[in-house]
Amino acid sequence: MFLQLLEALSPLTFETYMELALYHPDYGYYARGNVPGKAGDFITSPCVHKVFGATLALQVLEAYELLNRSKNFVILEAGAGAGYLALDILEYLSLKGFHFPYYIVEPFSALRAFQEQTLSRYLSQVNWFKSFEELPLFEGIFICNELFDALPVHLIEKKGEDLFEIWLEFKEKEVTEKFEKLTDPEILKRVYPYFPRWPEGYRTEVCLRAEEIYKALSQKMKRGLIVIIDYGYPRADYYHPGRSRGTLLCYYRHRVCDNPYFKPGHIDITAHVDFTYLRELAEKYGFLNLGFTQQGPYLASLGIDQVFLEISDNSFKDKEALKMLVFPEGFGHSHWVLVQGRFIGLGSIPKLSGFRFSNRLKLLY
Ligand SMILES: C[S@@+](CC[C@H](N)C(=O)[O-])C[C@H]1O[C@@H](n2cnc3c(N)ncnc32)[C@H](O)[C@@H]1O
Repeated sequence: MFLQLLEALSPLTFETYMELALYHPDYGYYARGNVPGKAGDFITSPCVHKVFGATLALQVLEAYELLNRSKNFVILEAGAGAGYLALDILEYLSLKGFHFPYYIVEPFSALRAFQEQTLSRYLSQVNWFKSFEELPLFEGIFICNELFDALPVHLIEKKGEDLFEIWLEFKEKEVTEKFEKLTDPEILKRVYPYFPRWPEGYRTEVCLRAEEIYKALSQKMKRGLIVIIDYGYPRADYYHPGRSRGTLLCYYRHRVCDNPYFKPGHIDITAHVDFTYLRELAEKYGFLNLGFTQQGPYLASLGIDQVFLEISDNSFKDKEALKMLVFPEGFGHSHWVLVQGRFIGLGSIPKLSGFRFSNRLKLLY
């Protein structure tokens, strides 16, 4: 059925295809309720160990202090998946005597049902919204783990001296890629300084969809911090001539696959995040860029070792999980943390405890 729909909609850009394959209400991978975890297709930091969320709870408390312990402080998460991050944050905060309202932006009822189960002990604290637009005005902290890598991207390729956008034609269960001369000024602007050095056949992605999120956040967040955790690169690395096949990755049953047309609607399709784009969006929408570093140093600097001693059994399994979150071979180097803020620190730029060991924000300029 999905293939018939794709045929009827052909030709379509790769971006439209990715949007449908992940988010079509009936056939989309996420819309149908797929969540990360052992039973899913891939794992994320919140699935590794509760110490990830518990350590982020320290970032929540720091935001609360920076907002002068506002009575209206809330935590907002989008792309909450199975709800493990929310659970671990709420559990640790409750251990410390804090009970902030927790908002989740979740467009899909299948995913919301999953999150309700995970968060059954905290239902009185949690509110769900179908979109950012539905949120009330709030102050507090917005946290997302692996949200931006799940946004649809445009696929482009260099041929000769020209850039082309990839369009798709689905016909009789086959898909053919078509090349249309790239004309979208937003896409061109993004890659313009880099493309002359690209070799023939260089293929990469451009995401334009993060802007919707920043625009909505800028309308809803009065004051607070934005904490983004994801895999990606500063732009010069993203569009490095050596990265000639781009960053598109698909996951199916814990295997990486490089064919985004395999089993449409049944595999996860992702693209790395251009963190320079998120730095620019923050500036455009009135947020200050405060810190950027890898997940390992960020969690270490926040004090993950102390939190680990507090809440884990210190078993071999727990220690392996800790290593996975912090060490370079795990998520410690592949994942980055970008923190942005609005109207906090009252005229001075706050020094956040997650960036005491390293702050590499200048990579994004
Ligand atoms: C890779 S999953 C991350 C899950 C979870 N954060 C974790 O770390 O396990 C990405 C999630 O982002 C969600 N998502 C994508 N765009 C969204 C949007 N505009 N608003 C809310 N959720 C969105 C998807 O539905 C999906 O559940």
